Amino acid sequence: MTDKLAVVTGASSGLGYQFARLAAQDGYDLVLVADEDEVHVAADKLRRLGANVEAIVADLSTRSGVAEFWTFIEDRRIDFFAANAGRALGEAFHDQNWSDVKRLIDLNILQTTSLLYKVGQKMHADGEGRILVTGSIGGFVPGPFDAVYDATKAYLNSLCYALQDEWKDSDVTLTCLMPGPTETPIFHRSENELEEAPISEADKQDPVKVAEQGYAAAMRGDMRAIPGFFSKVITMFSGVVPDSVLAKLHRQGAEPSKE
Ligand SMILES: NC(=O)c1ccc[n+]([C@@H]2O[C@H](COP(=O)([O-])OP(=O)(O)OC[C@H]3O[C@@H](n4cnc5c(N)ncnc54)[C@H](OP(=O)(O)O)[C@@H]3O)[C@@H](O)[C@H]2O)c1
Repeated sequence: MTDKLAVVTGASSGLGYQFARLAAQDGYDLVLVADEDEVHVAADKLRRLGANVEAIVADLSTRSGVAEFWTFIEDRRIDFFAANAGRALGEAFHDQNWSDVKRLIDLNILQTTSLLYKVGQKMHADGEGRILVTGSIGGFVPGPFDAVYDATKAYLNSLCYALQDEWKDSDVTLTCLMPGPTETPIFHRSENELEEAPISEADKQDPVKVAEQGYAAAMRGDMRAIPGFFSKVITMFSGVVPDSVLAKLHRQGAEPSKE
């Protein structure tokens, strides 16, 4: 039994599962949270690696879901926190349901910020801790046909840079992982309409490698991790290449096929 605790949101699949696996391999006890019961399947897999795992089902797009989740961890020291749970939403903005748009903003922005606030306060009180936020290179480009998602990630990327500066003289580190398109279930969730977008079938980055780079960066206390050559180029040239060109490139990958 170890006394190091890692808390991972959105740990049932994709990058979050990989962060949890890496933390388990490093000997952390784990608290996993996701919206569906699948998180218990993930927890069982990680227990088979020898980890001490608790899994919680909570809707982190709601204040009540975050409050419920928080009661599990508020009295415990958190050594590593991965703010990773997130959703995307394809289609044209005006065709989306407002309730889906709101839920996306509530999860990716409002409640993620609320958790970072709570965890940040706790880690500062404890004197140290490591936070990994899953931002995105989507935050560097206008994102037609996933517009609100990219805007939420621009917010998260920006919040990360600001907190890194505020906390630079402390032992609380915050790493922003900014992946490019990565092969995870996010592209195949029926509710987000990305299935019909060309990007869903395109070659994407390996989630194991992306997560390894993000996790290693967080353990080192790096400010950011941008896995992959293409993603690094995007971050270097955003702000130089006109937004209209970046928007056109994004549209090519995200606009649902008309058939
Ligand atoms: N894949 C990419 O290309 C890419 C690129 C850049 C950034 N990202 C970011 O990476 C993060 C992880 O996504 P992923 O690609 O690994 O996709 P994923 O496999 O779909 O994982 C998303 C995770 O978030 C959880 N989640 C979604 N809504 C939730 C809610 N309301 N409450 C609690 N948990 C919720 C999901 O759990 P349930 O299944 O239980 O809902 C799942 O565990 C996201 O923040 C995403 O924006 C992904």
